[in-house]
Amino acid sequence: MNAYENSNPERGRTARVIAIANQKGGVGKTTTAINLSACMAAAGKKVLLVDLDPQGNATSGLGIDKASLEHTVYDAIVNGTPADALRLSTLMDNLDLIPSNRELVGAEVELVDAGQREYRLRQALAPVRDQYEYVFIDCPPSLSLLTVNGLSAADSVLITLQCEYYALEGLSELLQTVKLIRDNLNPRLKLQGVLLTMYQHTNLSNQVIEDVRAHLGERVYQTVIPRNVTLSEAPSFGKPVIFYDLKSAGARAYLALAREVVSRG
Ligand SMILES: Nc1ncnc2c1ncn2[C@@H]1O[C@H](COP(=O)(O)OP(=O)(O)O)[C@@H](O)[C@H]1O
Ligand SMILES: [Mg+2]
Repeated sequence: MNAYENSNPERGRTARVIAIANQKGGVGKTTTAINLSACMAAAGKKVLLVDLDPQGNATSGLGIDKASLEHTVYDAIVNGTPADALRLSTLMDNLDLIPSNRELVGAEVELVDAGQREYRLRQALAPVRDQYEYVFIDCPPSLSLLTVNGLSAADSVLITLQCEYYALEGLSELLQTVKLIRDNLNPRLKLQGVLLTMYQHTNLSNQVIEDVRAHLGERVYQTVIPRNVTLSEAPSFGKPVIFYDLKSAGARAYLALAREVVSRG
């Protein structure tokens, strides 16, 4: 029996699993995965973050050395190792991490002929789901088998969109993928919400917000994440922004997002 089984008041309830996805790179997925996880943990929630990107930025952003990992999410995907054998503790008591590194690049090829290959992550998470209130999955910037594994394991998907001219480009393809997964692999998959990131006080950013809200309405979070240099500095110190500079605009924005995610249910 581990510590969670003794102390988790939510014991018996199963985690809400949220995949953070967008096949574009550089749109704030990893920044959101790290900081939303940390803000949830700071609010007393038991959280597991799964790094599903071979770049391992969520791993290093939580201060864990990618080069010296004994086990990674690769073992879950390729070898069927259960999550309890893979998770690491982090600087926060309530936040665990399943790490990733370059090794994951080979996973897709190794799984070509494997059975149940879309469900590997879901199967690996099953034994720990009742030990957490939230599981966040930081997806890679592609619609590859890894992202399919992330979406098949999830209850819902949180899409990040950068406040830039091409924000909506690629979104229909992503929503189509979500629909395909719902129809074929994971009928309970919902759209958790759409998060606008890297907002700047410019006419362009404001126009993008207006367009995105016009297109997606209620599904867009009220909280908008500003472009904030503190958010880009914190990972190089291996810390979520609330531990690097709690008063920064970035920290305040992710704390507000965490409240919104909890209150939306
Ligand atoms: N709100 C923000 N303000 C400033 N820099 C940001 C913000 N969000 C992300 N970044 C930076 O932009 C880059 C890409 O963000 P990241 O979260 O890694 O995107 P993704 O995971 O979608 O590829 C990173 O260097 C990150 O530190
Ligand atoms: Mg990323």
